[in-house]
Amino acid sequence: MDAGTLTESLRYGSERAYSEDDLGKFGFGLKSASTSQCRRVTVASRRGLQRARIEARCLDLDHIARTNRWEAIVVEPSDRPAHLTEPLKAAPGTVVLWENLDRVLDYKDPYGTWAHRRMLSAAQEVEEHLGMVFHRFLAGEAPGRRLKLRVNGQDVAPWDPFCRDEKATDAHPETNITLATVGGTGIVRIRPYVLPERQEFSSTNAWQRASGPLKWNRQQGFYVYRANRLVQWGGWSRIRTVDEHTKLARVALDFAPNLDHAFGINISKASVRLPGELRDALEPIISRVAAAANRRYRTTRQRTGATPPRPSPTASAGPSSDSTPRAPETHSDSGTPPRSSAGATPTKPPGGDGFDSPQPKGPAALADLRPALEAAAAHAGRADALTDIVRALREKNPEIAHELGW
Ligand SMILES: Nc1ncnc2c1ncn2[C@@H]1O[C@H](COP(=O)(O)OP(=O)(O)OP(=O)(O)O)[C@@H](O)[C@H]1O
Ligand SMILES: [Mg+2]
Repeated sequence: MDAGTLTESLRYGSERAYSEDDLGKFGFGLKSASTSQCRRVTVASRRGLQRARIEARCLDLDHIARTNRWEAIVVEPSDRPAHLTEPLKAAPGTVVLWENLDRVLDYKDPYGTWAHRRMLSAAQEVEEHLGMVFHRFLAGEAPGRRLKLRVNGQDVAPWDPFCRDEKATDAHPETNITLATVGGTGIVRIRPYVLPERQEFSSTNAWQRASGPLKWNRQQGFYVYRANRLVQWGGWSRIRTVDEHTKLARVALDFAPNLDHAFGINISKASVRLPGELRDALEPIISRVAAAANRRYRTTRQRTGATPPRPSPTASAGPSSDSTPRAPETHSDSGTPPRSSAGATPTKPPGGDGFDSPQPKGPAALADLRPALEAAAAHAGRADALTDIVRALREKNPEIAHELGW
C-alpha cells in the first residue's frame, strides 16, 4: 500500500473497489479484528520490489483516549521496531503488528507458566481454525497464489472437511441452485459427502484428524463457503438436528459475494442465514445424505462388531420433525465454538462413537475447565500440585490431557 491507501485502510468503513471474489467487503475487518484483541495495531507496508520505502501507520486506543481524536499516527522510521520492518526487507508486502494485547489472556502474571501454557494452546487453536477456514487457499484450490500461513514457525496444514483423499469417502452428486434475490442473482453449489466410518479410514491418525476442531458430532452438517472462505463449519442450520448417527454427513455449499445479502453476511463474516428458497431445495438433498450417512454408520458398525449406540430421543433420519422452535445457529470467528441451539444440541448416547476413553462434553465445556482448574489451584496455593497432576494425567491418559489442552 502507498501512504494514502495505508491511511485509508485504518479508517473504519474505508473505501475501495472490490472484485467479484474479494474476501473484503465492509472496510472494517483489519481494524475491528485487531482492536478486538489489542490496544495498538501498527501496519507497515512496502509497495513494490523496486521501492525500498516503507510506510507505517498506527491505531493506538490509548492515544485516542488521551487526545480524544480518532486518528492513525504516522510511525517514523526511528520509531519502528525491527520486527515490524524486517519481513519487508526482502520483498514487498504488508505487516500487521499487534501490541498491548489486553483480551487474549487474563492471568495476573502474563509471563507465568500458566499464561505461557494457555498461550501455546491458544496458538494451537488458532492454527486449527486457520487450517479449517482457509483450507482451500492453503491447498491451492482457490484462484490466485497458494496461501502459506505459519503459526510459531510451523506451516499451517489445510484441513479438508470432506477427507477427499480417503478412498472410502462417498461424494454424492452435485446440485446447482440459482437464487434470484433483490441483492443479486447467483448460483449456489451443493456437494454432499458421506465420510468413512472409523474402521474404514486409512489410519487412526487420519480418522482423528478428520474429527476436526469441534469433533465428529459438531462437525457434521453444512460447510458454507463464501468466495472459498469458510463462513460456517458444521451444524444443519435448523434443517435437522446434529446426531451421532449422521455424524459422517458433511455438505459443501458455495456462494459468491453477490449473494451476500441473501445469506445475511455481516462484518464478522462468520455466520450465515440460509435463504428460505434455498432451504426448501436443500431439504430432500440433506435427507438423502443423512440417510446414507446413517446407513453407513450402522452397517459398518454391525460388520465390524462395534457397539451401536442406543437411539437418542432427538435422532431422526429425515429433516427434523421436532416441533420445538429453535434459535438460529450462529458461528463466531473469535475462536469460541459455535453454540448450538437447544434443539440442535449434539447428542452423545452411551457407547459413544467408538472412542474408548470417556468423551469430554464439548469444546465449550473443555475450554472452561482448564482455566477453572488452574485458577482454583492457584487460589488454593497448590499450583505445584496441579503441575504434578497434569504430568500424571499426560502419562496415564494423554488423550484426555490433550483434549484439555495440557
Ligand atoms: N494485508 C493487507 N495487505 C494489503 N492491503 C491490505 C491488507 N489488509 C487490509 N488491506 C487494505 O486495507 C483495507 C481495509 O481493510 P479491512 O479489512 O479493514 O476492510 P476490507 O477488507 O476492505 O473489508 P472487510 O471489512 O470486509 O474486511 C482493504 O480494503 C485493503 O485495501
Ligand atoms: Mg478485510
